Formats: sequence, C-alpha cells, structure tokens
Amino acid sequence: MTQRMPILWLDETDSTQNELARHISDYDNLSVVAARLQTAGRGQRGNKWLASKGKNLTFSMLLKFGQGPLPILRASDQFRITKAATLGVLSYLDSTGIECMIKWPNDIYHRNKKICGMLIENVLDGNNVSYSIAGIGLNVNQREFPINLINPTSMSLASGKEYDLESEMEKLHVCLRDSIVSNLNADDDSSSYEGRLYRKGEFHEYVRCSDGTSFEAMITGVDKSGLLEVRNRKGEREKFAFKEISYII
Ligand code: BTN
Repeated sequence: MTQRMPILWLDETDSTQNELARHISDYDNLSVVAARLQTAGRGQRGNKWLASKGKNLTFSMLLKFGQGPLPILRASDQFRITKAATLGVLSYLDSTGIECMIKWPNDIYHRNKKICGMLIENVLDGNNVSYSIAGIGLNVNQREFPINLINPTSMSLASGKEYDLESEMEKLHVCLRDSIVSNLNADDDSSSYEGRLYRKGEFHEYVRCSDGTSFEAMITGVDKSGLLEVRNRKGEREKFAFKEISYII
C-alpha cells in the first residue's frame, strides 16, 4: 500500500510558501499545505499570484532531501526538482483528460493558455539542496480572471466540468509525490520533460530580454542546469536562462 502523506488545509494564509517556511520543522517530508485563500500569493519574477477564494488549488509541498524517500540532491542538479514537479502535474492533468504541455521552465499550458504556475524555492546547504518548497497554483474552477493576467485558463474552462478541490488535491498530491520520488531516485534524464515541452521543434518568435529585440528560433531542449536551448534557421545555437528570453504567444 502506498503511504499517505498529510495535506493540511487552511482557510486563509498570506502565502502557503511563507506558511511552510515559517513552520518548516512542523511539516513532514512530502507533505502539503493548501489554502482556500492566499492574501499575498507569490508568483515568479516577484509577481503576485491571484486566485479567487475557494476556486483553485494553491498549495506548497515540502521536499527534504536526504530524508525518507528523497535522496541527497546536489545544488547543481536542482533543475531536476522542476522536471519532476512539472511531470507530476502533467501526470495528474493527463488523468483528468486535459492534455497540457510544459512551458519552460515550469508553467503548465493548455493549448496557448496558462493553467498552472510554479514557484520552487530551494534552500542550499553547501553543495547540496537542503530542502525545497514547491509552490503550485493550479486554476481549477475559476472561469473569469482579472484582465491584467496574460492568457489564463482553468480545468473548468478546458473541460466544462466542476471539480471538488479536496479530492483533486489528494489525486494531484499522489501524482506529484510519485513523480518526485521516482524521478529523483533515477538517473537524471530530460527526455520526458522535453517530450512535453511547449513549442519544442517548431519555429516561433521570441524576445531577447537584454535588448527587447525579437527573433525567430526553435526550441531544441534544455541542458542539465535547466537552460533553454534554441537554434535559428541558420543552425546557430544559443542557450537562455530564465528572464533572458520571453515568448510571443
Ligand atoms: C507563477 O508565477 O507562475 C508561479 C505561481 C506560483 C503560485 C503558487 S500558489 C501556492 C504557492 N504559494 C504562493 O504564494 N505561490 C505559490
């Protein structure tokens, strides 16, 4: 029988990331804190994460490396957490029939719209990752979004169904835990991640953030550290870090 890891539901907190960080020693490895409302949800690049009360899944999962089923993880391998977590969310979404892709590095897209975002915060101890707080915001039943959000969608908009948040959280937790434990205990491999990478193998327009110029390129993959690898029509290859390239969608 698979071991159940606890899910703690809070009616309201500032951010489940902050909640876990404040009480780190109270939480078991691979446990989750979920909130019906975050008053100061945090997104990537210092943005806010906005989600209507009681409509979506907003939660954080604690990963303590070198404890229980999680092996020691070198800091240089931290992109493996992103690969395992994104594949866990996809495995859950596949089970609901909503086929999604990973928009590098860790957004989940349904068609050309964002259905899920992640904020993975790692705490290092020397050359290793001590623990990680993986924050996930999955749009579930919300059907209307503030106009300033770029390309949002939800499971409900994708499928026409309404979902029970607590039972979906349980299923998603199992998928995440299984993906994280199995991927981090196996040899590092990017093929599953790259196999679900949004816009891989097609030419599209991108913006180089350093100077705002646009260029046409094809995503070819990611390297071990998580840099995005692209090539242009002349066959010239280039790698980008997060914040160095933006997609035109
Ligand atoms: C993004 O900008 O795409 C990342 C969004 C991450 C949001 C989640 S919601 C649960 C957790 N708590 C937070 O404050 N942020 C993450």
